[in-house]
Amino acid sequence: MSVMNNIYQATDENITYAASVIKEGGLVAFPTETVYGLGANVYDAKAVASIFAAKGRPSFNPLISHIAEKDFVKEYAKVDSRVLALADKFWPGPLTFVLNRIDDNPALDLACAGLKTVTVRMPNHEVALSLIKKSGVPIVAPSANKSQTISPTTAQHVADSLGDKVDVILDGGACRVGVESTIIDVTGKNVVLLRAGGIALEDLENFLGEKVLISHGNPDLPTSPGQMLKHYAPAHELRINAARRENGEFFIGFGDVADCDLNLSPSGDLCEAAANLFAYMRLADAQNKYPKLAMSPIPEKGLGLAINDRIRRAAYKK
Ligand code: TXA
Ligand code: MG
Repeated sequence: MSVMNNIYQATDENITYAASVIKEGGLVAFPTETVYGLGANVYDAKAVASIFAAKGRPSFNPLISHIAEKDFVKEYAKVDSRVLALADKFWPGPLTFVLNRIDDNPALDLACAGLKTVTVRMPNHEVALSLIKKSGVPIVAPSANKSQTISPTTAQHVADSLGDKVDVILDGGACRVGVESTIIDVTGKNVVLLRAGGIALEDLENFLGEKVLISHGNPDLPTSPGQMLKHYAPAHELRINAARRENGEFFIGFGDVADCDLNLSPSGDLCEAAANLFAYMRLADAQNKYPKLAMSPIPEKGLGLAINDRIRRAAYKK
């Protein structure tokens, strides 16, 4: 166990400092009632990309946006009376909704993993709520641990797992619930449980007065492309690992390439490329000048793994 100097007691003053780090594009680990989250400004794609880099995630999972006021959910998701009733009953608390997205801001694309859904919860923890309010933006946060390891329930767990990859760790003591939030998909007619967690299935069913369907996919272990990530597949055919543009191709470059229509990162920075990926794919798909798309090779290291995972799916031919 190491004693890190990036652990800060969650005093009002330190929360204000942590909020300034969020506003500047940094990463802040913070306590919630379930587990510690690794937070960034949801609208800052570069900061969101650095979450994936810090966690060492080999793919882009959609992330949960944490909000401090129930009503904020209406700003970027389609909500009906069923969702509002559930939020009234269980928020703040360990219940997360997958909702249809209405905010088309491309800055949100990476947090949403390019999906047309947005995933939201209001945590029941004073420190988390204060941090979100002081930051003035929703805070996107997966659990604050390395990919494939156990979720952290103390500040020290975060330090042990992520060390100096996080700018600030706010120490608010041990998490009360200790397991992650329950995730439900409320985009369709039936409510579907995607992950069991802090709110019991029975409590949801009793409140709703109906059965909740159970998804057979575990969102943490997507078994097949498109199972969890019902991916936004581009309408245009995509050729990957393309050294150069061929006739009839819209070319998305990476690094030092000439003659491209967009460049994910002219300097070859994988974090910048990840931040631009979804927005550029969207732009490329929206153009009508060329019938096909092509993309430069992306190095298979760091965030390149997640980028390649994503573009392989996009290039997959049925
Ligand atoms: O308690 C929690 O939920 C904690 C605290 C920090 O809020 N957060 C958390 O986030 O556990 P994370 O990223 O470690 O787990 C969220 C899971 C991921 O497996 C993600 O793939 C899945 O939820 N998920 C999020 N949005 C989804 C969506 N639109 N469709 C399917 N799965 C989704
Ligand atoms: Mg997790």
